[in-house]
Amino acid sequence: MKLTWLGHSAFHFAAQGKNVLIDPFITGNSMAPDNAAPWLANIDILLLTHAHGDHVGDALDIIKANDPTVVCIFEVANWLKANGANPDKIIDMNIGGTVDLPGGLKVTMVNAVHSSSLPDGSYGGQPAGMILNTGDHRIYHTGDTDVFSDMALIQTLHNPDIALMPIGDRYTMTPRTAAYACNELLDVDIVVPMHWDTFPVLTGKPEDFKAQVKRGRVEILTPGEPLEL
Ligand code: NI
Ligand code: MN
Repeated sequence: MKLTWLGHSAFHFAAQGKNVLIDPFITGNSMAPDNAAPWLANIDILLLTHAHGDHVGDALDIIKANDPTVVCIFEVANWLKANGANPDKIIDMNIGGTVDLPGGLKVTMVNAVHSSSLPDGSYGGQPAGMILNTGDHRIYHTGDTDVFSDMALIQTLHNPDIALMPIGDRYTMTPRTAAYACNELLDVDIVVPMHWDTFPVLTGKPEDFKAQVKRGRVEILTPGEPLEL
């Protein structure tokens, strides 16, 4: 499979013949590739961790253009439907559940310690992390979150081998706390820092994170350059 960072918390996965996007914040994302269009076309599956604008991002346009299967929490699903998304293609779920997706993929929704409101200010439900099981890999996108000790429980129950973790500080974990999660709570082979440098207030640096991680290989990705797994 191929994993491509699109800046901030947006990732594209190509696995089992399916194109998957998560947290597709492209418009206004200073870290997005100059030409992100190829990564937004022919999307089969769209995943959303929570309702904040820097995560829902361009979801409505992507849904309109691709009619993907969409997975998100109940409240965000209702908001998407109210804003014109095809209700037949939306899978609403909640923390703890696992759903089957096209291509034999599965996604599990887990806790995140954060908040969640929609672009219009309405309640967005709980924020979440998501674990995409491709058959070959289990990729844990933590969403926006602080570190929490139940990350160890998530590792035990769902056995992720790749983690995508915010390190920017202010709204999420920092290089120090995300490194703690890798070293003490998770046990993944590869970890990709995200949610850094998009805005000046995100001060956590990936090199600082990498220097503190002792368990797992840190891959500091360049947006638009795929990582083959
Ligand atoms: Ni957020
Ligand atoms: Mn965010």
